Amino acid sequence: MSNKPVVLVTRKLPDAVEKKLAENFTPILNPQDKLYDTEELLRLAADADAILPCHTEKFPAETIARLPSRVKAIANFSVGVDHVDLEAAKQKQVIVTNTPDVLSDATAEIALLLMLGAARRASEGERLVRSQQWKDWSPAFMVGRQITGKRLGILGMGRVGQVVARRARGFDMTIHYHNRKPLDSEQATAAVYHDTVESLLAGVDVLSIHCPASDATRGLINAQRLAVMHPDSILVNTSRGAVVDDDALVQALRSGGIAAAGLDVFNGEPDAIHPGYRELDNAFLLPHIGSATTETRDAMGYRAIANLVAIFNGQEPGDRVA
Ligand code: DGY
Repeated sequence: MSNKPVVLVTRKLPDAVEKKLAENFTPILNPQDKLYDTEELLRLAADADAILPCHTEKFPAETIARLPSRVKAIANFSVGVDHVDLEAAKQKQVIVTNTPDVLSDATAEIALLLMLGAARRASEGERLVRSQQWKDWSPAFMVGRQITGKRLGILGMGRVGQVVARRARGFDMTIHYHNRKPLDSEQATAAVYHDTVESLLAGVDVLSIHCPASDATRGLINAQRLAVMHPDSILVNTSRGAVVDDDALVQALRSGGIAAAGLDVFNGEPDAIHPGYRELDNAFLLPHIGSATTETRDAMGYRAIANLVAIFNGQEPGDRVA
């Protein structure tokens, strides 16, 4: 590359990633980590050959239509791409990439944390200690559920789902899953395939959601499906809030339809999530930190850069999604 292409980086990235990006590109950085609105994003994009955004910047069809024609690519710093209208990008011939694989371990860790936190009433316990309300110990105090040896249902047995399955086997959990198609036997390693979501939900103690948000999965976990789960079961979501109908989940948690939930992702995040969750003792809540480890943030950045390098060298990027 002779003249370095200009890349608009929408959020503050790790220093090492920004340094690496500057080797091959002229970055427009955001050192204050300001959250751009659409107009500001489009104004800055006027000088860019590519954009390196996070899921916090939205690219619906109207925004993509207004991108300057010099913008050749949207190289996401995320595996999820539900914030980008892929069809509109294809039509405008803007290449879109994501960062799969590199965040599977970190996200699987958070899924396990949510399972344990929800099962063992971690939020409640922590609040007791911090608020000086912890006054006693008794055999009946803070009794939760055990996940060891239980049946784990994985909704969406892709990259993250498969890592969660491996880690959960360390807790002697038996693995069940639903995908559009069963995995081949090597990938499935003794996991039980369910050909419907309902069959999966009915037969598990813990449900972990790993399918991406799409038209097909929006609101997939609704009141009817939650009613299929047994009252002792736990639901965990590290994928996207959009897969869950919040009214239905809050109602199931309030009424004892299911026992507990562990959530890292929400509709309306960060500041407009369903208010019902905040009031529920049986909801263990985290602020979308599935991939938030130093190692993973660096790896996501390098992966996005590798995609950009390929694109501007006229090659097919490894992680093209549109
Ligand atoms: C992802 O990569 O999709 C994470 O949710 C962070 O955006």
